[in-house]
Amino acid sequence: MKKSKISIKKINDLVFLFKDLKKKTFFRKNKFNVLREFDEEKYSSITDHVKKNKKFSIKLLDDFVLKFKKSKYYFYKDNIFFGKILKIHKKNLKIHASHIKKFIIPSTKNNIVELGAGYGSKIINLKKEYFKVHNVHAFDFSKNSLKILNFLKKKIKINVGYCDFYSLKINKKIVPKNSIIFTSYALHYIPNHKEKIIDFFINLEPRIVIFFEPFYENYKGKKYFSYCRNYIKQNNYNKNLLKILKNYQKKQKIKIVRIEKNVFGINPLLPYSVVVWKVEKGKTKSL
Ligand SMILES: C[S@@+](CC[C@H](N)C(=O)[O-])C[C@H]1O[C@@H](n2cnc3c(N)ncnc32)[C@H](O)[C@@H]1O
Repeated sequence: MKKSKISIKKINDLVFLFKDLKKKTFFRKNKFNVLREFDEEKYSSITDHVKKNKKFSIKLLDDFVLKFKKSKYYFYKDNIFFGKILKIHKKNLKIHASHIKKFIIPSTKNNIVELGAGYGSKIINLKKEYFKVHNVHAFDFSKNSLKILNFLKKKIKINVGYCDFYSLKINKKIVPKNSIIFTSYALHYIPNHKEKIIDFFINLEPRIVIFFEPFYENYKGKKYFSYCRNYIKQNNYNKNLLKILKNYQKKQKIKIVRIEKNVFGINPLLPYSVVVWKVEKGKTKSL
């Protein structure tokens, strides 16, 4: 019988997680491989699924991708839990919503933007469940993800556009100024970010930026996190994003408003931290 909760301090009870890790085959991350993983593999099968099924919705897509009825281990605040995927997915959305809510200005239509939105699992569900009256915008660099988002536009009001963190290109005209901009598991595919990545966000003149991303620099303090660090290394995921943010804070270009370390991970070896930051006053125009 699987235990429903194990503290990450009990490393010996978690060996099974690390064994699974050894079985996986990893590929190095670069634009070609990341596009192959998402555009050609994951999202093209979802596009086929959408085409075949006249009755599609974000719920059906999520179920197709995530397999709601199955159960798995996940990370939440220094514990590993076992639970149904549907419940894990809802809990994750609730965490995203609770952070975004803090920056919503009441009694007006706010703009919420997700960059690297995939097929819209976060942004569309957030709109449906938490931010019905607000405008939402989804951007990605995978053509197939944009295709799916454009299909979903028939069901739910959402603006869709192209953005690429490699070339730092985006349909800037369709990103409203003063938006709440967030990313979720999208920035870690670039092993070493350049400082320009932060300028890219600053240029969009956001009200606030929220990164729900795995931060290598936050994987410290407990032995468990050395396995997370190894996971990042094996996958060639990002290792310097927090350092860059802190440098920009030192240069007084941005202000880091909040860092919540290692909050949640559907993949227990890749929990995300929530890092919230804003542009220092008067810095937007000088870029
Ligand atoms: C793991 S999925 C996360 C999707 C969504 N944010 C979520 O949390 O459900 C990663 C997404 O980031 C996108 N992505 C990866 N590298 C990117 C880049 N350089 N520019 C834009 N999007 C990127 C992928 O196409 C994919 O849709």
